Amino acid sequence: MNIRTGVLNGVATIEIARPEKKNAITAAMYEAMTEAIAAAGDDAAVRALLVTGQPGVFTSGNDIEDFLQRPPRDENAPVFQFMRALIDCEKPVVVAVTGAAIGIGTTLLMHADLVYVSDEARLAMPFVTLGLVPEFASSLLAPQIMGRARAAEKLLLGEPFTGAEAVELGLANAVLPAGEVVNHARRVAERFNALPPGAVRDAKRLLRASQREATLATVRAEGEIFGARLRSPEAMEAFQAFLQKRKPDFSRF
Ligand code: COA
Repeated sequence: MNIRTGVLNGVATIEIARPEKKNAITAAMYEAMTEAIAAAGDDAAVRALLVTGQPGVFTSGNDIEDFLQRPPRDENAPVFQFMRALIDCEKPVVVAVTGAAIGIGTTLLMHADLVYVSDEARLAMPFVTLGLVPEFASSLLAPQIMGRARAAEKLLLGEPFTGAEAVELGLANAVLPAGEVVNHARRVAERFNALPPGAVRDAKRLLRASQREATLATVRAEGEIFGARLRSPEAMEAFQAFLQKRKPDFSRF
């Protein structure tokens, strides 16, 4: 299975494990992660979640083949269910960004609580480059987190950035050597074992409360445009170019 899950010492781990495709996420993988978040929520022994990838790659984002063959159609699509589960997760979510974090790999960090990044990681939200638009409230949250000017670099130009820059932007807590990032994130997640879970849950909800309605409304608004853009000739050119390992040509649009 391309998603490995397990509970150890109060921490439910979700490990993205499809290294041969750079951890690109398919519909089935979103479904597995949604189930894991639900199970963690139901298990009183779980005090925190840890999301991680493989050495050198966190995730290359949504599987581009899936975007072509099985594009998400509405809010019942597995990717929406997964992101909604993440947004609604009452327990703290700690992420270890083990390497490249592209597209949703960077977007999801905005909905996590604590983020640790490998010093070899490269992050990017190349939606416009792919003929798409920002997703899952990143058009709302990125300007809030990093400021409008820098959000434009990352979301309009699709500029990649390093783990150190992710910290500087306010998207991550710390950069760690590649070999230490998972253990560090795990140790942080385990700290919740010593904290009162009710207070953690209430504090997490309060930290997000002022943005919750706007976040959900933006997810909906972006989703409609994203869905239409997935079928656009611009996106088709971008996806075909990726699969054919060539540069896209947008000169005819
Ligand atoms: N969807 C589907 N397949 C993907 C993928 C994705 N998002 N990302 C990588 N792959 C596949 C490649 O097609 C390749 O498959 P192949 O071996 O069958 O040809 C394999 O994974 C290895 O990828 P490759 O590009 O050769 O690795 P790399 O080390 O040179 O680069 C990345 C790694 C992550 C920088 C690069 O793969 C990338 O940019 N991926 C796409 C990112 C993206 O645009 N995601 C969508 C965001 S919405």
